[in-house]
Amino acid sequence: MSADGGKANIIRLFNVSKRYGGKLALDDITLDIDPGEFVIVSGPSGAGKSTLLKVLYLAERVSEGQILIDGMNLARISSGKLPFLRRRFGMVFQDFKLIPNRTVFENVALVLQVAGEKPSYIKKKVMHVLRTTGMEKKANHLPPTLSGGEQQRVAVARAVVGEPSIILADEPTGSLDDHSAQLVLDLLMEYHKKGATILIASHNLGLLESSVRGRNIAIEDGKLQGISTMLY
Ligand SMILES: Nc1ncnc2c1ncn2[C@@H]1O[C@H](COP(=O)(O)OP(=O)(O)OP(=O)(O)O)[C@@H](O)[C@H]1O
Ligand SMILES: [Mg+2]
Repeated sequence: MSADGGKANIIRLFNVSKRYGGKLALDDITLDIDPGEFVIVSGPSGAGKSTLLKVLYLAERVSEGQILIDGMNLARISSGKLPFLRRRFGMVFQDFKLIPNRTVFENVALVLQVAGEKPSYIKKKVMHVLRTTGMEKKANHLPPTLSGGEQQRVAVARAVVGEPSIILADEPTGSLDDHSAQLVLDLLMEYHKKGATILIASHNLGLLESSVRGRNIAIEDGKLQGISTMLY
């Protein structure tokens, strides 16, 4: 139960640790996140921010501890069920992970095609998110021909297009100028207002113009340093 009246937590971490060889990237993290929360995960380079988002997306398995997503224990998700779980998430990887030999349009459309949406809906929806990120003119380009900032905007468009209930965005404005960064943040805010739970990993907290109440989860050296409510 959450403090604000009984909504079940959408994300729960119990004593989660992640070890890469001898390196403890996450060290005994216990944390609850409510549905619809806006969360910034902050901390210096190497703190474990990307690792935290990756274990939630099951891009990495934890070494110890448990993670529940909507009450589902991630340790019990078989590889066959993984694609269904992943549809609940939109993930922006720090290194984008776009498919290099598919166009921008195809990269973004794939999520909706896999979900069995109609081609007319797919076209409308994909063009909407590309327009909102300022990428509509590059719809027919291949990712390797784009700048880093353009690829990042496509990665954000792809993460939100399926209207997932949880959006995990790893440094989603890291390669962007102020104008494009604001477009990306506005797009994330649009989905936040529709009810999505948003986790953004960032070491730059000063970017949001719109005032949104959220939580800052500070990590350092894999450890939870503190949680505070902020107006971003
Ligand atoms: N695949 C990996 N193999 C070995 N060590 C790793 C791997 N991924 C991350 N690490 C280590 O785990 C620690 C946390 O890495 P992580 O990428 O989560 O940090 P971060 O907070 O996202 O940093 P940044 O702000 O630079 O993106 C670092 O010390 C990193 O070197
Ligand atoms: Mg990172």
